[in-house]
Amino acid sequence: MALMGEDLHELHELDETAFLHETQSFEYWFQSVEGYLAGRPYGCSPGQAEPNFLPGEVDRLKTALCSYCIGEMAALEGASGLLQFAPNRATKVFLATQAVDEARHLEVFYHRLKMLGVSDPEKEIELRGTRALVKFKRRLLELVRGRDWEAALFAQNVILEAMEFTVFQTHAENADPITREILEGIIKDERRHMGFGENEIGRRLADAPHIRSRLGEIKRELDHLVFETFTETMQELGLPRDEQLELGRSYLAAVKRLGFGDD
Ligand SMILES: [Fe+2]
Ligand SMILES: [Fe+2]
Repeated sequence: MALMGEDLHELHELDETAFLHETQSFEYWFQSVEGYLAGRPYGCSPGQAEPNFLPGEVDRLKTALCSYCIGEMAALEGASGLLQFAPNRATKVFLATQAVDEARHLEVFYHRLKMLGVSDPEKEIELRGTRALVKFKRRLLELVRGRDWEAALFAQNVILEAMEFTVFQTHAENADPITREILEGIIKDERRHMGFGENEIGRRLADAPHIRSRLGEIKRELDHLVFETFTETMQELGLPRDEQLELGRSYLAAVKRLGFGDD
């Protein structure tokens, strides 16, 4: 039985073997994305008119999208790198589906930039992208090159995914309808990626509790880049300070589910 994306909650009722079988398969992935991507080229329903943006709003949106492209490129390179030393067939298959998701995210953000009149997204990303995220990407890929499965997976599928998930959710609530539809499709994928990270790291921690302190160190090292990214991105989006604080809280709650406190 393959579960549809809308039935994700039912996954929690499956036993461990069935859970892994369902989530770490291309069949499950395809069933899952088909529901929200069919008929939506580049992640949005065709024929929608652009809204009447307020002055400065398009510019801020372009800057945010440029930063998202850096995060998605980091996730694409991270997932494909992790695949090479993933411990078994099931995790390799999952990471292959994740790499496809991240490539799609990158493509739809590029396309959204083009829709907004950016003729050369590469150049624009170079100019506008959040510096903290560039540093985060560099550190993540170092961990991947070190072939340290727990550390690299933690940085990628827990920290980066939790950061993207919370930013995209907050942005979607405040976005124009086209950007919102694109983000909502991406959020569904990021939730799946986070679920994989939590499950895999959770099982590793249960088998080898001593890795917790090493992962805690990585979290402490990366947290300040995450918060710098939040601050820059929220300023770009023009969101009020209380939403910025909420963003930080949501991120910390996501990583805390694994037992990594905010100290
Ligand atoms: Fe992504
Ligand atoms: Fe992701």
